[in-house]
Amino acid sequence: LSHLFFTYQGIPYPINMCTSETFQALDTFEARHDDIVLASYPKCGSNWILYIVSELIYAVSKIQFEYPEFPVLECGDSERYQRMKGFQSPRILTTHLHYDKLPGSIFENKAKILVIFRNPKDMAVSFFHFHNDVPNTPSYGSWDEFFRQFMKGQVSWGSYFDFAINWNKHLDGDNIKFILYEDLKENLAAGIKQIAEFLGLFLTGEQIQTISVQSTFQAMSVKSQDTHGAVGPFLFRKGEVGDWKNLFSETQNQEMGEKFKECLVVTSLGAKLKY
Ligand code: PPS
Repeated sequence: LSHLFFTYQGIPYPINMCTSETFQALDTFEARHDDIVLASYPKCGSNWILYIVSELIYAVSKIQFEYPEFPVLECGDSERYQRMKGFQSPRILTTHLHYDKLPGSIFENKAKILVIFRNPKDMAVSFFHFHNDVPNTPSYGSWDEFFRQFMKGQVSWGSYFDFAINWNKHLDGDNIKFILYEDLKENLAAGIKQIAEFLGLFLTGEQIQTISVQSTFQAMSVKSQDTHGAVGPFLFRKGEVGDWKNLFSETQNQEMGEKFKECLVVTSLGAKLKY
């Protein structure tokens, strides 16, 4: 599968989505103070939060968020940053980049950043299905093969664990808010309220309730083809906590448990992640 990736500054990316020209152009990207950045490793729920944030903005200001052709900041052609200069504020930028790979202007201009995490086991299962279900993405012969590559960090966007260690150092920053997929599943309206408060958006309880009804997995998967085109049904696959139990062997569960423990030794994520 190595021919389906290219490595940029030590991290593998899918060749059908990212190019080195785009990465070079990204260095010149000018973030705005009112940009909203959604940072997550793949399959942790970025499309979910993107929808929630765009609905919050719409409820408050009636500004319809302009979707770029590729929602992920580092994907697409190198001219996109030029085009994005013409987008109205607030722009919502999703990214799967490790903290130190983001363009510096995001921090200099103090854009607000929501960092979304999900249990690595469910995330890995979601990533496996995504690769194997979506046409034109690298597919794996078996779950066991994907698991091996995932644990080595030899998958698109590199190691989940390195991503976690890297972001963990910055989670207490003023403009950064940590969001957990599992918390949102547990209490969607409460999570939406917290996101709104962090973004300085004031909504009534009724407005929050309306958005939470519209952003359940059920509601989003029904409209996925309209909102996300052909890839919609693959993006909104199952939306559950605990799906890992359908694929992980006991040995794999233990192996990931050990790796996760190593990660916790150097991070404060133990108190935050629901593993
Ligand atoms: S991507 O391709 O990396 O941008 O994918 P991402 O959007 O980050 O994550 C996709 C997973 O998020 C699930 N999802 C949801 N879960 C619960 N509720 C809602 N509303 C919701 N929307 C998206 C989606 O189903 C993917 O997880 P899996 O486990 O594959 O279903």
